[in-house]
Amino acid sequence: MTDDQGSKKGLEIVRTVADLRQVVSSWHKDGLSVGLVPTMGALHAGHLALIEQSVNAMDRTVATLFVNPKQFGPNEDLDTYPRDEDGDRDKLSVAGTDLLFAPSADEMYARGNSTGVSVAGLGDILEGEFRPGFFDGVATVVAKLLIQAGADTAYFGEKDYQQLLVIRRLARDLDIPTVIEGVAIVRADDGLALSSRNAYLSDEERRIAPALHQTLLGAAEKAGAGEDVAGIEAWAHTQLLDAGFTSVDYLTVRDAETLEAYGALGKDRPARVLAAAKLGSTRLIDNIPAE
Ligand code: PAF
Repeated sequence: MTDDQGSKKGLEIVRTVADLRQVVSSWHKDGLSVGLVPTMGALHAGHLALIEQSVNAMDRTVATLFVNPKQFGPNEDLDTYPRDEDGDRDKLSVAGTDLLFAPSADEMYARGNSTGVSVAGLGDILEGEFRPGFFDGVATVVAKLLIQAGADTAYFGEKDYQQLLVIRRLARDLDIPTVIEGVAIVRADDGLALSSRNAYLSDEERRIAPALHQTLLGAAEKAGAGEDVAGIEAWAHTQLLDAGFTSVDYLTVRDAETLEAYGALGKDRPARVLAAAKLGSTRLIDNIPAE
């Protein structure tokens, strides 16, 4: 927020789309650039890296906090998803965020709403296959947040790599002018990618969890050495199960831009190794470039 002299005032909170629009348009009228960081809260250092990137690059930063019911399946963790608005507010304030948009579900989804955004193809594979409806929920809420905020740039973590590609695609396809910026994954010292869901891991599971990153590194090395994807997938499944993972949804090598089968568009294109695996009842995802 800004005082009469145009200097920053600290974190303010708004809960309606009208108030969000009013603040952002007053900043734009003053010639200030605006960054947007959508979150579902339970903020950790990975989210704060997104805030930091926005604070460094833009004049004003808006964070959003909304646990979006449309992106949770019927047997997923909507009810137990970690929530800590007071703690999140403190972290956002210390990180230099100017505005928090924390709407209710009724504010986000008017009674009788019936419009959704669906990114066909890209949203149906990998995560889309194992979490049916997930990307429709993400694409719908992110399209709304982008339209509501009208920010210049929005920041999303590469931890959810497929989500980042889905969001880039929907912004392009729907002519939403906000620039979509990807931010590198933040990892614990042992390599585990930070995630709000890591809070679900028992001590023993937390000890096993870094094997996901180690296996991705091994798979990337094999891909770089020209090994075939089916062989890499088989090796990686065994590694993860031997390490103590309960099940593996996928660990595969894909074209980094389209997530199509690696090599289908030519082997000179960048590739990405992506994985999702369960440790007890917690599902972890991670990815790295395959170079
Ligand atoms: O990555 C997330 O936290 C969510 O999927 C997002 C982008 C905030 C949409 O609800």
